[in-house]
Amino acid sequence: MLSSTLGMSPILLTGTAHPELALNIAKHLRLKVHQAVRGRFADGEIDVALPQNVRRRHVIIIQPTAPSFINDSIIELELMIQAAKLASAGEITLVIPYFGYARQDRKDQPRVPISGSWMARKFEFAGADRFCTIDIHNEAVEGSVKVPWDNLYASYSLIPAIKKLKLANLMIVSPDVGGLRRATKYSNILNLGLEVPTANKIRDPEIKNDAKVLRLEGAVAGMDVILTDDILDTGGTLVKAAQLVMEKGAKSVRAVVTHGLFSNNALQLIDSSPLKEVLITDSVRLKEEVTKNHKIRVVSIAPLLSGAIKCIESGQSMSQKFFL
Ligand code: R5P
Repeated sequence: MLSSTLGMSPILLTGTAHPELALNIAKHLRLKVHQAVRGRFADGEIDVALPQNVRRRHVIIIQPTAPSFINDSIIELELMIQAAKLASAGEITLVIPYFGYARQDRKDQPRVPISGSWMARKFEFAGADRFCTIDIHNEAVEGSVKVPWDNLYASYSLIPAIKKLKLANLMIVSPDVGGLRRATKYSNILNLGLEVPTANKIRDPEIKNDAKVLRLEGAVAGMDVILTDDILDTGGTLVKAAQLVMEKGAKSVRAVVTHGLFSNNALQLIDSSPLKEVLITDSVRLKEEVTKNHKIRVVSIAPLLSGAIKCIESGQSMSQKFFL
């Protein structure tokens, strides 16, 4: 049994964004998780109430800020933090497996917000003492708050799944330049070297969700390619990169992705693409049609997150254990 503040176990809370993952994490920790969202008021406002005393206790709130109701999940999270703060929690840790809005991470056009850092600052203002995320799109967001932030890598959970595929001519490819660092890390951990072919993607800022993959830097002929990415949203990036890789003579193509958002017709796109298989984590709640699709395989990050929570409680190093 975990124990910390006052020698007592932490209190786990969750909202409606992904209670299944919270429950799974709680099982690994042999703790109970409490649902803090009671329901809704008649006008749609969210009704939050903590079901037990949290005075001077370490409160851990597990909630991705994710589709389908991304904005509701954010308000729920803010209200849970504030409720814990007002109820005299000793410490409040946010476990946000998928941190939404982090792709809006810089002022790259006139008159746009930097939404990622704004979200983090709001959560800190509400009372968060620590953040724990997985593969946040841009780690620079961590610098927008003054409290500690542990960003873990889903590679810890996904690398063993890749190894199990036992692909003869395995090669990691990045579907865009932004993902090259991540892809190189995967390639390095898998002992495949540091030279990673990369697709060149451009987006027109005027057209939403329309990635164009132009060309591939590097040779992939005859290889069993795995594309790595942090987010699968509309599926456009991965599907176009997969097509390109096959055009260049790859033997097969798969994808390994941390956050499976599956917006619009992403699943249909994948179905009709050359992608043989897509490995994703359960960082966000997945629709049944996704989990039941024959090309999709889900790897749980509950062991990673419960392990991270144990480190937070015991004061052990996370990097030595989990920073694959
Ligand atoms: C962008 O830089 C991200 O790393 C992903 O490549 C992107 O969010 C994927 O989006 P979509 O699936 O809509 O192409």
